[in-house]
Amino acid sequence: LREHEEFTKVKNIATIELGRYGIETWYFSPFPPEYNDCVKLYFCEFCLNFMKRKEQLQRHMRKCDLKHPPGDEIYRSGTLSMFEVDGKKNKVYGHNLCYLAKLFLDHKTLYYDVDLFLFYILCECDDRGCHMVGYFSKEKHSEESYNLACILTLPPYQRKGYGKFLIAFSYELSKKEGKVGTPERPLSDLGLLSYRGYWTRVLLEILKKHKSNVAIKGLSDMTAIKSDDILTTLQGLDLIQYRKGQHVICADPKVLDRHLKAAGRGGLDVDVSKLIWTPYK
Ligand code: ACO
Ligand code: ZN
Repeated sequence: LREHEEFTKVKNIATIELGRYGIETWYFSPFPPEYNDCVKLYFCEFCLNFMKRKEQLQRHMRKCDLKHPPGDEIYRSGTLSMFEVDGKKNKVYGHNLCYLAKLFLDHKTLYYDVDLFLFYILCECDDRGCHMVGYFSKEKHSEESYNLACILTLPPYQRKGYGKFLIAFSYELSKKEGKVGTPERPLSDLGLLSYRGYWTRVLLEILKKHKSNVAIKGLSDMTAIKSDDILTTLQGLDLIQYRKGQHVICADPKVLDRHLKAAGRGGLDVDVSKLIWTPYK
């Protein structure tokens, strides 16, 4: 599959139809060869099966009985819902999601061994069903303490705070596991911007509250953000000094306020009391 990708980096599918939206694609995705001649693909927004023709989708919609992603609903707050899908129990869904996501992810090599992953699907729900807004994937067991493999907000929903919600959610899961986490590298430009924004806001708010009397380790314990990511974030804000062989946080309240203002809006908040979840075993 990777070979195939290397040789044909040309964008194949130019647009997709998904729920209410027609969406222009960004990158090549290695759909099975029989879809190579398609410019447009029609997705069922619930099971993510894809078809070449609109009539096929219409026929499918009459018999598809899903109204939300498969798997367990682990979070519901207002109209926002999160579903956890085990790639091993829902292989077809996992593959469909990977094909779809690759259309918007450039330098990520997607894993088609979906068995090893959990998928967290964020939905906006109404009386017609739960409509996918974005998702992230997570390895069931990560040696490198990755708490997120791939993240995507579908283009019609971007820049509304869903990305930061997904990132915050990934750290809430890490907190429940009692582990620190970090996103898999490399990050895309948009991925880095979103993470940097999230880390900055979360860390500055704690520093402000604790009047900067916290060490990097303490910040890591409170946030589940890996120490390396805390260090680079704070170094980027020029809040770190190196004293007697140690990195120390030096932040004057006025400087913190200035950075907080510049950090922009926060995302949509995760209400932890609405998260019903136990770590994968
Ligand atoms: N231009 C400039 N800044 C942007 C843009 C943009 N188009 N999009 C996001 N940002 C920055 C902003 O700082 C924004 O915060 P702000 O709106 O307060 O200024 C911040 O990122 C996050 O914005 P959100 O609305 O919370 O995020 P969004 O829902 O747009 O999702 C995401 C961000 C997931 C990265 C999205 O852009 C996306 O899906 N991109 C395509 C796939 C991708 O690149 N994924 C990351 C790959 S790396 C990995 O998977 C580990
Ligand atoms: Zn379907």
